[in-house]
Parts: sequence; C-alpha cells; structure tokens
Amino acid sequence: MMTRADAPEKGVLDTQILSADETARAADMLKAGGLVAIPTETVYGLAANGLDGQAVAHIFAAKGRPTDNPLILHIADMDMLAALVKDIPPKAKALAEAFWPGPLTMILPKAAVVPDIVSGGLSTVAIRMPNHPVALAIIRQAGVPLAAPSANRSGRPSPTTAGHVLQDLQGRIDAVIDGGACQVGLESTVLSLAEEAPLLYRPGAVTPEMLEAVIGPVEIAKGALTHVAGDLPSPSPGMRYRHYAPKANVVLVTGSTGAYARYVNERKGEGIFALCFLEDLPFLQVPAHAYGSEAEPATLGTGLFAGLRAADGANVTNIYAHGPAATGVGLAVYNRLLRAADFQVVSLFEMD
Ligand code: TXA
Ligand code: MG
Repeated sequence: MMTRADAPEKGVLDTQILSADETARAADMLKAGGLVAIPTETVYGLAANGLDGQAVAHIFAAKGRPTDNPLILHIADMDMLAALVKDIPPKAKALAEAFWPGPLTMILPKAAVVPDIVSGGLSTVAIRMPNHPVALAIIRQAGVPLAAPSANRSGRPSPTTAGHVLQDLQGRIDAVIDGGACQVGLESTVLSLAEEAPLLYRPGAVTPEMLEAVIGPVEIAKGALTHVAGDLPSPSPGMRYRHYAPKANVVLVTGSTGAYARYVNERKGEGIFALCFLEDLPFLQVPAHAYGSEAEPATLGTGLFAGLRAADGANVTNIYAHGPAATGVGLAVYNRLLRAADFQVVSLFEMD
C-alpha cells in the first residue's frame, strides 16, 4: 500500500500484478485509499475511491495530469447514479437503458457529495457504468463509485493491456489487475446532458447516430474535430491538451490505399514508419504496422492505441498514420489520430 503521500509522483511503490479473480483484494486496496489500474471494455482505468478527495489527488500525481481536467466516476448500478447527481433527466434515463453498462459517459449536474477535485471545480460530473465483469465486481465490492481516467501517463496513448499500464505507471500505483486486452480499445463516448441540447465532447464506440436514435438531435462540440486554442475556454477541459502522443512526429493522412501508399513510399528513408490499414500493407515500401482493417472499422478502434505504441520504436522519427473516414466509429478513431498528430493532417485526393 501507499507508504508516503508523494509515492505516486516519485514512482517508488511496489506495484502488484493481480489476476482477474483478485477483485476483492483490489477493492480492499481502493477502500484503503490506494490506486489500482483496472480493465474496462474501453481502455484500462486508473481507479481510486471517487468519494475520497485525497485518494483522487494521487491519481493526478501518478499520471502527471493537470488538476483542471476532471475525471469520470464509474458506477455499478442506477442507485449509485442517483446519489451522485442533482437529478436524472429523462434523456439520461433513456440513454442508460440503451447503452449501460457500456462505453458511454454522461455529464450531469453534480451532487454535493462529489469532491471538487473529481469534477475539476465544475458544477457537473461525468459518470459511466463500464461493461466489464472485473470492473463491475470491484465497484460493487468497494461499495463506492471509482474515479478512473485512462491508466496512462498524461499525454501518452491510452493503455489497452496491463502491459501498457506497467510501461507508464510501474512504481506509481499500488496494483494493476490483468484482465487481458480491451474489447473496444477507445475511450468512452462523452456526452453532456447538462446543457440545453445534448452535446458530444468526445466521440467513441457509441456513435452520434446511435445516440440520436434514442434521444434525437445531438450537437458535436467544436473541439471534437478541430483545434481549440490553449487559452480559450473549452467546454470539456480534456479537449485542450495534446493526447495519445508517441515520441515521434505523427501526421494523419487520409485518402485511398493507392494515394496513401504513394505518399508514404515517396517519403521512404530513415525513421519513416507507416501506421496503416491491413489493406495497405502489400503496397508499402517502408516499415509498417497495420492497426486494423478498413473494411471492419471497429478493428481500427481496438488496435489504434497498441498501434501507436508499436509504431513508436527507437529509431522512428515520423509516423504516417492512415486515418479512416470520420463517420460511425471512424469518427472516434479520426478524433484520436487528430490529437496524436497535433492536428497535422494531409488529405489526399486522387488526381488520376
Ligand atoms: O472509456 C473511458 O472513458 C475511460 C475508462 C477508464 O472508463 N476513461 C477515460 O477517462 O477515458 P479520461 O479521464 O481519460 O477522460 C475523461 C474525459 C476528459 O476529456 C475530461 O476532460 C472529460 O472526460 N470530462 C470529465 N468530466 C467532465 C465534465 N464535468 N465536463 C466536461 N468534460 C468532462
Ligand atoms: Mg485519457
């Protein structure tokens, strides 16, 4: 367990690796104020007792995360939701019925019990019921909502395996539960229901089309697909920060397999790497990693973050990432690549 208050920041903890059936041990560590990385269906989360402001402060220290970027509270049932928000509007109820447990986070006006450090001082709180048996068991056994951002060092690609968590946080957290690879691979859809109209802050596996089928029109926040200047107020603080960034320079390239392959091959040379679709591989003359198949966009979501980590090899200086069309789940993949590329985009049109 945590021995000193500044242990997460210093990285001097003896991080335990627990198996998926050790949920009771994880719950005990969390009840005692510890930090445990847990599997969810989206990405691994770095959990602490969401009602314990001191435990939550350790999350920010371990990740190196700015404290004005609020966290998501993870719940296991609707009674927990009722305790954390001022009220549950009909649209929230309908979305919970349709998509929980699952990769949807809802932002609602918060109740007083939620510590300010969880909500970054905002009057709202983000809440999600994860669709993963290990996560749900730990929440039930701990008996409290768990605050959990993605379990990466701030700015790095989100972890989709326990190994990724250890790459970033070994020594900074009390334990990680190894629940295998995450099914979805991208963080949850974040939707605000605290405004007059539902507002999508972060696209995910629950697509705008799926949301609109349940609650009608959904607006997409400007920052979801465009750059929000650092000094402008942002509706969702997470949009301001560079994300998912390997050490190498990343460029997001859109266009057909032919156009992408031609563009990348023209640049072949030392340090060049292609983060591509399976369909591109036969045409590329540079080192490459296929993160999924263009024909099955969900596989691009599952493989993206592992792909960004794999592409970031010792001698790689420039990663050319082939991005999908920004529709359906492709919207979420495109959004993450855009941030990994720090908004450097090349759109290729067929000239011949
Ligand atoms: O799938 C996920 O959502 C994962 C797993 C672990 O559940 N968690 C995750 O958390 O991605 P995190 O902290 O990496 O992303 C939470 C996002 C941030 O962009 C944050 O700014 C936004 O949600 N957010 C949280 N509370 C908010 C609030 N009250 N208002 C606006 N945005 C909020
Ligand atoms: Mg994150």
